[in-house]
Amino acid sequence: MKRVYINDVAARDGFQIEPRWIETRDKIAFIDRLSATGLAKIEVTSFTSPKAIPNLADAAEVMRGIQRAPDVDYVVLVPNVKGVERALAAGAGELNFVMSASDSHGRANLGMTAAESLDRFAAMAAVARAGNARINAAISTAFGCPFAGAVPVEQVMAIVARIETLGIASVMLCDTTGMANPLQTAALCEAVLTRHPRLQLTLHLHDTRGMGLANALAAWQVGVQHFDAALGGLGGCPYAPGASGNICTEDLVHMFACMGVTTGVDLDALLAASQALPALIGHDTPGQVVKAGKADRRYPLPAAVG
Ligand code: COA
Ligand code: ZN
Repeated sequence: MKRVYINDVAARDGFQIEPRWIETRDKIAFIDRLSATGLAKIEVTSFTSPKAIPNLADAAEVMRGIQRAPDVDYVVLVPNVKGVERALAAGAGELNFVMSASDSHGRANLGMTAAESLDRFAAMAAVARAGNARINAAISTAFGCPFAGAVPVEQVMAIVARIETLGIASVMLCDTTGMANPLQTAALCEAVLTRHPRLQLTLHLHDTRGMGLANALAAWQVGVQHFDAALGGLGGCPYAPGASGNICTEDLVHMFACMGVTTGVDLDALLAASQALPALIGHDTPGQVVKAGKADRRYPLPAAVG
């Protein structure tokens, strides 16, 4: 059984779309709590334009304020060279460059087509490498775009190939608005793994249409070992109409635990952190296991039956 590595993105993908401002100290305490749960990686924030993503305007304070656990990787999202520079100045050691496979979502989200983003990646990579930062390249709408519809597999494969020629060794396929189905997910992941065996592949799924965990399972079955997920199932891109939460971290960890697949995560600690989310964000979350309990939860037989 291949073990999996879970990256929690609630503090970035989740908090970016919350209707209510989350205080900087609360963001820091949230991330510090996640750091003690055994997650492989935590996406801390994004160094984007505060006009585009006002909820993460405190990115530098959050990045500087967290306690970094030695066995956890901390990553931040950056859209351009200015973002790389701000992230490095705040002490970030790993950066997620973001682009969109579809030009329409790319223009809505970043003001850039895919080709423009790829050209920028070269300049961003030079700055990141000078600052000794590790780089991952995230491809939004890799499984479909809410404006343009289907995104051809070869379009995504051409982007992946270009990313590899830029010397970037880690790529992320993102299903921004939950359009992927399990067979499609398996096919695209398998194509990337087969044609680019040296690339590290991470899958970033949203559960907008209830296919999130099925997609994760399909990807794991073809060999994907790195997954993004958000505590409580928070998340969504503010520039993708109809966007909703990422696959839920504790539900994903629970699924793998039930199958005997190692995640390294303390599920009880994760569930306790998830229980604290509604007080932090001011509303219920879509997480299921936090409400239902783990699959080994048992109830007393009703007295009338006994
Ligand atoms: N951090 C902070 N400020 C930034 C910035 C960054 N990384 N990049 C640009 N800016 C500022 C500029 O300094 C400028 O400020 P000013 O108006 O005070 O002069 C302003 O933003 C506009 O700059 P410009 O280069 O014209 O950018 P834009 O308005 O075309 O926006 C992005 C482009 C990429 C910066 C913006 O669309 C963005 O941050 N998008 C992120 C979207 C996102 O995170 N989506 C969810 C994740 S997928
Ligand atoms: Zn996302």
